[in-house]
Amino acid sequence: MIRQSVALRENAYDIYIREGLLGDCGALLRERFGESLPAEAVLITDSNVWARYASPMRDSLARAGIAFKPLVQEAGEGSKSLRNLARLYAAFADLRLRRDGLIIAFGGGVIGDLAGFAAATWMRGVRFVQIPTTLLAQVDSSVGGKTAVNTRAGKNLVGVFYQPALVLTDPALLAGLPAREFRCGMAEVVKYGAIRSKRLFESLRLAPDPAELCAIIGECCAIKAGIVERDAFDTGERMLLNFGHSFGHAIEALGGFHRHNHGEAVAMGMTLAAEAGERLGLTARGSANALREVLAAQGLETDCPYAPAALLPRMDLDKKNSDGAVRLVLLAAPGEAFVRSLDRAALREAMGGV
Ligand code: NAD
Ligand code: GLY
Repeated sequence: MIRQSVALRENAYDIYIREGLLGDCGALLRERFGESLPAEAVLITDSNVWARYASPMRDSLARAGIAFKPLVQEAGEGSKSLRNLARLYAAFADLRLRRDGLIIAFGGGVIGDLAGFAAATWMRGVRFVQIPTTLLAQVDSSVGGKTAVNTRAGKNLVGVFYQPALVLTDPALLAGLPAREFRCGMAEVVKYGAIRSKRLFESLRLAPDPAELCAIIGECCAIKAGIVERDAFDTGERMLLNFGHSFGHAIEALGGFHRHNHGEAVAMGMTLAAEAGERLGLTARGSANALREVLAAQGLETDCPYAPAALLPRMDLDKKNSDGAVRLVLLAAPGEAFVRSLDRAALREAMGGV
């Protein structure tokens, strides 16, 4: 079993990663919370995950003597809404969920973000545990405490930092993940290699063997844990985790949020960022090509279908921008990243002269 700690001064927690861990998650919850487990936990999941894994989850929790009430959400981004959040609050009230209760988020990033935000805000904070079931959630969204719901004005606009008390990760759950969702997670894995680990990056020149997934997820979580420990509130180093995301968000928006999924957009966005860095003389020549090769090996498309002139105004809307400048994550070379503020003129030049 891989055990990775997230050593925050307040709210420190562990991430456990092991093939087949689902069968032991009841025991691990009992070990972590002991006598402070509530009479009935609340488990928030989605319809796809519950259709597949209700039975092993029920068995695992029953063996540890943990009673729970499942609240099953419709699968998909649409569930990360204020309306759905209000439904959850109503269910919490019916269940008499108290501050000393426990919320278990069992699903991908949608469930983790929604359940985490509900946990953070119900009675000013109920303990919650992440049991991530997509690759994206296992390497990224379950760690670091970003929780949010969407509004009409945009994605993740209402949110709060709220760390889980424990993260339980079972890579075996990825066996049934649709191939497109798996590739989406691999884009984030490539991101970790690109910003922090040349060794991981180079190892991704081949599609991973399922036997290597535990170690790969562990390495991504170790990188993220270190970054979150140094910058929990996303004011500095944590921005590196947004490599490819400024372009990626613009690409997602131009595709109407249905043509490209997040990982596909980030894959193109990382390539654009590497090309931009090379144009500005800030990124080692050949880095963009190396990224293209690694992303292609993971089945990801790297050619952006939108012209720079279409991307540019969408990037200005990115919520991470400070006035007048866009903060872009750039590569020095694969394995090393930095943040650079670019004004509009510099951004135009970086994008090949728009
Ligand atoms: P998701 O939660 O919608 O899951 C993708 C699909 O896979 C869904 O249809 C789901 O039902 C299905 N699924 C989940 N686990 C499965 C399994 N084991 N087997 C079969 N099907 C399964 O999407 P996601 O990509 O996991 O997460 C995307 C969300 O994460 C977005 O809302 C994004 O904003 C958020 N996010 C948050 C952070 C963060 O730091 N909090 C980081 C990145 C992304
Ligand atoms: N997914 C980016 C972050 O957690 O900061």
